[in-house]
Amino acid sequence: MEFRITCIPGDGIGPEIVAEAKKVLDAVAVKYGHVMRYTDILMGGASIDVHGVPLTEEAVETAKSADAVLMGSIGGDTTTSPWYKLAPNLRPEAGLLAIRKALNLFANLRPAVLYEELAGACPLKEEISAAGFDMMIMRELTGGLYFGERKTVEENGVRKAIDTLTYDENEIRRIAIKGFDIARKRRKKVTSVDKANVLDSSRLWRKVVEEVAAAYPDVTLEHMLVDNCAMQLVKDPAQFDVILTENMFGDILSDEASMVTGSIGMLASASLNDTKFGLYEPSHGSAPDIAGKDIANPIATVLSASMMLRYSFDLDQEADAIDSAVKAVLQAGYRTADIMSEGCVRVGCKQMGDLLAERIK
Ligand code: IPM
Ligand code: MG
Repeated sequence: MEFRITCIPGDGIGPEIVAEAKKVLDAVAVKYGHVMRYTDILMGGASIDVHGVPLTEEAVETAKSADAVLMGSIGGDTTTSPWYKLAPNLRPEAGLLAIRKALNLFANLRPAVLYEELAGACPLKEEISAAGFDMMIMRELTGGLYFGERKTVEENGVRKAIDTLTYDENEIRRIAIKGFDIARKRRKKVTSVDKANVLDSSRLWRKVVEEVAAAYPDVTLEHMLVDNCAMQLVKDPAQFDVILTENMFGDILSDEASMVTGSIGMLASASLNDTKFGLYEPSHGSAPDIAGKDIANPIATVLSASMMLRYSFDLDQEADAIDSAVKAVLQAGYRTADIMSEGCVRVGCKQMGDLLAERIK
């Protein structure tokens, strides 16, 4: 089959890691008889440098016309990069928020998995990490505080800033349905995370999630307050299967969960709309400090490409081949700098891509 993929190499290590993901996708295409057509678009700082804005209308149209989008990372050093002297709506991150909204990518899937081969990198005590963990954070991505009305005003000489947290029941329902659907394919447990002891938006969240749960009698639902969830993630991460939560809580909890795995360079993510279309990107950032040095870990991007094959193209066998290649390369002892440990062989970004692609063939 033929697939059209819009690529966003982006900033920092983005271009290097996307190049390796393409290498692996090309190996998949050869082996399974597919054709992958790539079109690059600019986003973030790369787009600011050329167009003065972090995302152009034209780039959005190119993304929309593809079957899926594969992204590296965007953004720079917030203290030194000139991009951060621009107005907030012209900074690199504004491009990411704009594309999420323009493509209606309301469901953000962020797996946090403790890899057996990398268990040593887990910062938790062994008595906790020994149980292993494998959770999927389902973060609502186009609502809440991120997209509510905001302004900064001055009243009687006092500066005041306002951000608005809004959710309507339809926004909650559609992400809850995705969450339960995904739980059904996993260990059938949803932990819905909110702040229902304080926020109205959370109380509505809880009600709507319960309504959705009624159609999934085979899936266990529990509610957890967000502060407790932050604690439970380090105390007993094995208890979680699917964590279902709103935009801001999901932003924070997914960073915590990825840190707990000890190997953020390994974590993929998918942002989906209500069709098969999605944007796939590593969970980590653009790491400007190591950009261009061929030391970044491309695995999170490669695994994001695998999620793309699975969720957008229905190519489960091909996705399995990528996931197995990652396992095989780790088992053979190859490591990039971020996951290096004693007795392993250190490789760069390109060589890691080569090793993965070789194992597909
Ligand atoms: C993420 C990032 C973004 C977010 C930033 C870059 C706007 O932290 O994808 O988690 O907060 O959503
Ligand atoms: Mg974040």
